Formats: sequence, structure tokens, C-alpha cells
Amino acid sequence: MSFFLPERVECNGDIFKVFINKDQIDARLSLLGEQIDKEYEGLKPIFIGVLNGSYIFLADLMRNVSIPCEVDFMKLSSYGDAKVSSGNVTELKHIDAKLKGRHVILVEDIIDTGLSMKYMVERMAEYEPASVKVVTLLHKKEATRHDVQIDYVGFEIPNKFVLGYGLDYAQEGRNLAQIYAISDKDS
Ligand code: IMP
Ligand code: MG
Repeated sequence: MSFFLPERVECNGDIFKVFINKDQIDARLSLLGEQIDKEYEGLKPIFIGVLNGSYIFLADLMRNVSIPCEVDFMKLSSYGDAKVSSGNVTELKHIDAKLKGRHVILVEDIIDTGLSMKYMVERMAEYEPASVKVVTLLHKKEATRHDVQIDYVGFEIPNKFVLGYGLDYAQEGRNLAQIYAISDKDS
């Protein structure tokens, strides 16, 4: 499949430039898939994607995993349409799968303050899974204030607003095939 891969995009009046390109994403996901294959051999893990942001990363990550695995989704809302977290987590969709005794891999698009993932990990404990690990495509280490375990990271990134590959700005831009970072309008 061929994708539209612009160097620069405009979204909601802001300019974004390519920050992690398609080849870099593909190469990293291939390595993450290999790692999960090795560590979960014989365990049939279940990926729990955090909607909406994780759906593209999760779809590509799963296609890089070759062992038997399952998927379900949970939906959280903490940002509204803003670029800065409101600090509250609301659960908009619960998990349907039975997680008791299962090996759960939580999948996030990005860990920023860590609030959403901290919530997810604590929530998982209530389902009594056999294990819980966390995979995130992006991690803004400098912005992370909540104490969260992160087992697999696609890319550590600086504290900049990013867009594309599932990540949105006021719900737009999720369809971009690469990851873009916000830039000054003049640069
Ligand atoms: P946290 O709870 O502060 O860690 O924020 C996590 C959620 O905020 C992610 O799942 C994203 O949906 C959203 N988010 C954080 N940073 C960005 C960004 O730079 N671009 C788009 N969404 C973001
Ligand atoms: Mg999200």
C-alpha cells in the first residue's frame, strides 16, 4: 500500500513537520513484535488498546507479532479537544473480554503525564490478570509526573505536541501515516 507522506501539514491552524517517518516506525515495530514474540511464547497475550489514539499503532504492532494473540479495547477520555490534559480520566468504554488469569499487554499511543496509564494499570488489577505489561508508541519522559511502569517504548520524545499515526489534535490528523511535531508557524 502506498501512503500520502507529506513533510509538513497544517492541522487546526497549526503547522506540523514530520518527526518520525514511516520507515522509522516500521523498523521499530518490527523489533517490538520480535520482542513480544519471544517474551510471550505459549502465553497467548491479549492486547488492550486504549482508544482512540492507539488504534493504528495497535493494528500495526499486532501484524508484527506472529504468536497467537487476542485484542480488546478500552476507551478513556482525559484531554477533550485541548492540547493539555485536564487531569481527569473518564472511562467511556469498558473491556468486554474476560481477563482473569490472562497475560495483558496495555497499548497506548503516547504516555505524557502518565495519568491515563496509571489509571489503566490500577484498573487492570481488578480483573485479576496473570500479568500486565505496558507498551507505548511514544513516551514524553520529561512530562511524566505519575509513577507508571512502561515495559516497551517505541520512541522517547521531547515534550512537544505530536500528531498523526493515530494521534489527534482536536480529533483531526489521526489518518496521517507518520508522526508530526508542532512547529512555529515561521520556521
Ligand atoms: P497522559 O494521561 O497525560 O499520559 O496522556 C495520555 C493521552 O493524552 C494519550 O493517550 C493521548 O491520547 C493524549 N496525548 C498526550 N500527548 C499528546 C500529543 O502530543 N498529541 C496528541 N495526543 C496526546
Ligand atoms: Mg490516548
